Amino acid sequence: MAGGFGIQSGGVPKDYPGKVTTYVLITCIAAAMGGLIFGYDIGISGGVTSMAPFLKRFFPTVYRKEALDKSTNQYCKFDSFTLTMFTSSLYLAALVASFCASKVTRSLGRRWSMLLGGTIFLCGALVNAAAQNIAMLIIGRTLLGIGVGFAIQSVPLYVSEMAPYKRRGSLNVLFQLSITVGILCANVVNYFTQKMANGEGWRVSLGGAAVPALIIGISAFFLPNTPNSILEKGNPTKAREMLRRIRGVSDREVEAEFNDIVEASEASKAVKNPWGDLGKRKYRPHLIMSVFIPMFQQLTGINVVMFYAPVLFITIGFGSNASLMSALITGGVNVAATFISVYGTDKWGRRCLFLWGGGLMLIFQVAVAFLIGWKFGTTGQASNLPGWYAIVVVICICIFVLAYAFSWGPLGWLVPSEIFPLEIRSAAQSIVVSVNMLFTFLVAQIFLAMLCHLKFGLFIFFAFFVALMTAFIYIFVPETRNIPIEEMSQVWEEHWYWKKYVVIDGPLPEKV
Ligand code: BGC
Repeated sequence: MAGGFGIQSGGVPKDYPGKVTTYVLITCIAAAMGGLIFGYDIGISGGVTSMAPFLKRFFPTVYRKEALDKSTNQYCKFDSFTLTMFTSSLYLAALVASFCASKVTRSLGRRWSMLLGGTIFLCGALVNAAAQNIAMLIIGRTLLGIGVGFAIQSVPLYVSEMAPYKRRGSLNVLFQLSITVGILCANVVNYFTQKMANGEGWRVSLGGAAVPALIIGISAFFLPNTPNSILEKGNPTKAREMLRRIRGVSDREVEAEFNDIVEASEASKAVKNPWGDLGKRKYRPHLIMSVFIPMFQQLTGINVVMFYAPVLFITIGFGSNASLMSALITGGVNVAATFISVYGTDKWGRRCLFLWGGGLMLIFQVAVAFLIGWKFGTTGQASNLPGWYAIVVVICICIFVLAYAFSWGPLGWLVPSEIFPLEIRSAAQSIVVSVNMLFTFLVAQIFLAMLCHLKFGLFIFFAFFVALMTAFIYIFVPETRNIPIEEMSQVWEEHWYWKKYVVIDGPLPEKV
């Protein structure tokens, strides 16, 4: 299994000169802002759906069940199809949008996808803030979803192509960092808007999405296209100049990297149908990763905490105010722990973080299942919960979030964005986004029903997948740290399992 640990004998990776120039830093930070709109959305829905005036107006049945029927089983209080549809319609729209975004990303460039994403997202925020009925809510969420689909299809690719390869990990993790900041901002906004006396705080929460939309829209307007993208559009002189500028090196020093990008771009042009090509045997490892990594990221169960933390905390005995407070704590841990990954991905490698994160998540998920099962049993009734009990549950959930935030959170986006060859990069990234959205949708849609039926076993369900995905990383995912993106084919050619796929069709022709 040695090949699982990255590049070994023979395949000495190339060393392209280049540093993190201010120019590249600013463009990557601006691009990573695309994560803000995604994060804000994830964070906002949980808080809004636990606000009484919002429920009273749009989901009166859920409200009555929650507010009036005190004897209801705690596991099943919030189980409502339309309520979950409100949260999850966004992810369905993003799923479909990412396929159109792949065309725009490939033909017009990564930057236009971001600009379009920000603008559509802005419209969604305005429709939601003005909502008079459920239809307006769902239309608004759908527009937000289209915006999100465009932004997350293009941002990780943009950053991976702009960044010098030795810092690609850290710079790419900025995308995840901005997702977590978006979630935290949403939690803070919810905390204050739920206190608004006129009961219209939910409008401010939903309309607040306009702020990150403007940030991404305006930044995308000023961002340059990546050298790869400029080349794909047939302008080699401009592409070379851009590469030299972002690497901060001389014309001669940029030669080797530029030639490799040109070569990749030629291969890319020869591919008329990247979707069809993805089915070829030599792309089997890429295809498998583009499906399994985003699927597993969602099967960690992180969004149960992110979407429904307030609902979850009410269930385990916090009042509505205290539960939003706890959601703020988990949001804070999520942001802080992402820095471990900003620091560590390029230093300790992707596999190390994946394996540590998986181990910790597994232990603390089982602990949460045990704690909830112990007090709530299968009936969902618990009386006289001691204060320390809720605190221990929150601590376990926080450690789970911490472990996710330095592993599957950032790496679930980083690793797919760096492993695809240019010719299939856009198409494969669409698969990543759509599988991620599909599973985000499924988790959002069925979580409340699952909590009602599986009860505390829900956490065991996710723990099972965490064990499975950790084994998957150990066996099948090679180390990609410090490998230039255009040289990535080596990691597959030298992997104990994947080499039989990539080498049968033959590795890419020797460079001359
Ligand atoms: C995931 C989201 C999740 C977030 C939590 C992201 O990487 O794609 O679904 O809510 O991490 O920080």
